[in-house]
Amino acid sequence: MSSFRGFGKVILLGEHAVVYGYPALAAALERGVEVSATRGDGMLLLSGLGAPEVRKRLPALLPPEFRAGEDALISAYQAILGSLGIDPRVLRHDFAVRSELPLGSGLGSSAALAVALARAISGALGLGASEPAIAAAAHAAESVFHGNPSGIDQAIAQHGGFGVYRRATGLVPLLADSIPLCVGLTGRCHETRTLVQRVAELHRDEPVMTSRVLEGIGVLVQEGASAVLRGDLVALGHAMSRNQEELAVLGVSCREIDTMCTLARGAGALGAKLTGGGGGGSVIALAPDDPEKVRAAWRSAGFESFVTTVGSGAEPLA
Ligand code: PMV
Repeated sequence: MSSFRGFGKVILLGEHAVVYGYPALAAALERGVEVSATRGDGMLLLSGLGAPEVRKRLPALLPPEFRAGEDALISAYQAILGSLGIDPRVLRHDFAVRSELPLGSGLGSSAALAVALARAISGALGLGASEPAIAAAAHAAESVFHGNPSGIDQAIAQHGGFGVYRRATGLVPLLADSIPLCVGLTGRCHETRTLVQRVAELHRDEPVMTSRVLEGIGVLVQEGASAVLRGDLVALGHAMSRNQEELAVLGVSCREIDTMCTLARGAGALGAKLTGGGGGGSVIALAPDDPEKVRAAWRSAGFESFVTTVGSGAEPLA
């Protein structure tokens, strides 16, 4: 039995603006999603997602009255098959999905799942799908989950690494020393699709204001990326906190995120912000000297967290 992996990610700077073509700075996490395929009768088994184990029957064996749109995961599975040109009836397999990322946490769980599942389906049928074919299949699945994904999650989920992503150019790797980050979980689940839509509506209603904010975020990403290249973590932290202010203006922060950012800065973090879609999900804090102090501050307020290392020196686990 072979297993296939997709990496989780953190966006250090630039989420939401990246949907509008601006750059974003992102990194793979050691944590991700693993999918393994075995001969079976068409079940999808999900575990370790921070939720009870879930079993879903796959569409080839579903009754004809089932509408795929009722279940995002099944629709995503179908989108992958469609993209890879596979007839669902030829797949007599079970897929076991094991995630080390909580769902809806802003850590790229859906893209990691999409990439790992696309690879596992290709592997199960011995298709040897190319990397561009896996990217297209994962993009089709991400479009089910997100509506209008920028592709940043998927690029990192597929290739790992650390760098600046733009819709136009894809991921351009950035050479940088390892950067330790605290990742804190708000405990509030979010739907990226809803948040991306919220920003789109604001952009439609207040185009001048949002254009200024999105452009400002693009500038912060450039400042942050050059700070990373110089090894200037103070400047990177500053860019992160300013990015958080702009994201709050876009309406994608929430009470828990604000509290966690304040706690992190109070505990000595050089910068803190939401990561991913916002509205809940996760917060990152840059506290290279004493990450445990930030974690302790979060813990005392009831927030779970972990420490990770990103950067070109940080090898994601295979
Ligand atoms: O919430 P996540 O982990 O799926 O991250 C979404 C990032 C956004 O910029 C908000 C959307 C996107 O497609 O880039």
